[in-house]
Amino acid sequence: MVTVRPCQHQDIAALQTHIPTPGQPARHATRFERQQDGQSTFLIAWLDNRPVGAGEIFWNGCTAPEINKHYPTCPELNGLDVWPPELRSHGIGTALISAAESLVRQRGFHHIGLGVDDENSQAAALYLRLGYQETGLRYLDRYQYTDNDGNLYDIADPARFLVKQLHP
Ligand SMILES: CC(C)(COP(=O)(O)OP(=O)(O)OC[C@H]1O[C@@H](n2cnc3c(N)ncnc32)[C@H](O)[C@@H]1OP(=O)(O)O)[C@@H](O)C(=O)NCCC(=O)NCCS
Repeated sequence: MVTVRPCQHQDIAALQTHIPTPGQPARHATRFERQQDGQSTFLIAWLDNRPVGAGEIFWNGCTAPEINKHYPTCPELNGLDVWPPELRSHGIGTALISAAESLVRQRGFHHIGLGVDDENSQAAALYLRLGYQETGLRYLDRYQYTDNDGNLYDIADPARFLVKQLHP
């Protein structure tokens, strides 16, 4: 049975062992630091004492300015991932989303948003099924990636922003 809870300091080593972050070696640690700063909550899904997925709630909304100006008070669920791929389609992603929605509701927010890249129609299908709705807002999902030779790349993937209304 899958359980979902916020990351603790001692989880970082297990995350590094079990959930690869190609091109972003400090990704888990950076997400944990943001949580410790109060900017986010870094949720981890566990199965049989092993981390099998993660997602992060950005309490100050989507970091893309073109979205934040429209939804400044809408927390964003960011960087959802289930690993390894054989464990996808078994409800772990839904468990992470549901845990995020509960936390957002508990803090008194009425909406939660998330971005989905244009290429990711499978993930979009899941979000729409779970009640996320089109906002019509598009943006560039920006992040950095380092290749095996240490070269740093700035990536900007076209994406759209979906929002779900949360009922108390
Ligand atoms: C998207 C993702 C987090 C969903 O988690 P999950 O545990 O597979 O989701 P659930 O089992 O709760 O729901 C399954 C649904 O997710 C969707 N899905 C999205 N990407 C998928 C993938 N790579 N493999 C399987 N299902 C996927 C499908 O609609 C699927 O429905 P189906 O089982 O009826 O085909 C997970 O599939 C994943 O890590 N994908 C790769 C990374 C990614 O795309 N992240 C989202 C960024 S916006």
